[in-house]
Amino acid sequence: MSQSKLLFTPGPLTTSETVKQAMLRDLGSRDAEFVSLVSHIRRRLLELGQVANGSYEAILMQGSGTFAIESVLSSLVPSSGKLLVAINGAYGHRMAKIATVLGISCKTMVFEEATPVPVERVRRALAEDPAITHVATVHCETSTGIVNPIAELGRTVHNAGRIFMVDAMSSFGGIAIDIAGQQIDFLVSSANKCIQGVPGFAFVLARRDLLLAAEGCARSVSLDLLAQWRELENDGQFRFTPPTHALLAFEQALQELEAEGGVAGRAARYAANQQVLMNGMTELGFDAYLAPEHQSHIITSFRLPAHERFDFPSFYRRLSELGFVIYAGKASQADCFRVGTIGHIFPQDIRALVAAIRRVLREMQVDLSHAVTHP
Ligand SMILES: Cc1ncc(COP(=O)(O)O)c(C=O)c1O
Repeated sequence: MSQSKLLFTPGPLTTSETVKQAMLRDLGSRDAEFVSLVSHIRRRLLELGQVANGSYEAILMQGSGTFAIESVLSSLVPSSGKLLVAINGAYGHRMAKIATVLGISCKTMVFEEATPVPVERVRRALAEDPAITHVATVHCETSTGIVNPIAELGRTVHNAGRIFMVDAMSSFGGIAIDIAGQQIDFLVSSANKCIQGVPGFAFVLARRDLLLAAEGCARSVSLDLLAQWRELENDGQFRFTPPTHALLAFEQALQELEAEGGVAGRAARYAANQQVLMNGMTELGFDAYLAPEHQSHIITSFRLPAHERFDFPSFYRRLSELGFVIYAGKASQADCFRVGTIGHIFPQDIRALVAAIRRVLREMQVDLSHAVTHP
């Protein structure tokens, strides 16, 4: 079996050996052990979101993060409703696309990718359009690495009497989120991001009264969020084949998160990773796309150097051959590549990555000390 490479990506991420080992057994999906595993995971997720007081519910959904986003939008926005999506990157656009395909009335506000969603513009849009019932946005736009002001947006959306949905796919578990305090009604994240499990399911942390109020809204059978919750509540089971191995891995990942000092401990490691990355890349001559005040510790976009001998596919391939997997860019307004700093990776791994980048640049005969970057 070939060795795992280190993943500096937005997910799936590098996982610990112990998380991988937790999957090395089979578990019956109707077994009492499975039921108690699922119940424990749901409780821990509510605790991580600081909403274990009974007014929120944790719902696990098979599939990748997008499936859970689609489940939220398709199950919760009534046919009489209207969704506003505040967009500053690819994942915001994806939510709007899902709404459009589902036939949900949808207004999009598309902002600059390198600046956070402007709260005041959203406030004005809500004041001008009383038909809007729900507002959705992305917490950390992984397409660039920017963090959006969800607490301010939550306050604005609630002051306007609307429902607030947040895609916190790449941030939950890696940035502290007080879901009720930040007035988030529905939050979506997935198993293989900052909690450091493996892919296979995503989850929704949902305000129970609003979840119950969405009775009859579902536009899909398999993605029906309310039906999924009812089954989990009634008999502790999934409606359809659950990702048993991914759930076993997740339980182990949750224990490892706790051992690291919870979200605060993990956030500190990710911030240290990102700092080492920025120092190393700046020294090599790379420019970060975002201003430091908007940059998260989740993932960093670097502008592609305009050096005549720099070519990204070759740069990527050489790094991968050395065991380091980075990621292509996803910003639409600039040519970038991305380096993730989440997952089971540590400052020494980032140092090793920077050393590998230095070596690859040398092999490609690319000296960036005087190079200009693509705007
Ligand atoms: C912010 C955000 N939203 C949605 C997604 C989509 O998740 P998935 O690829 O698991 O469907 C991602 C994936 O990285 C993401 O970072």
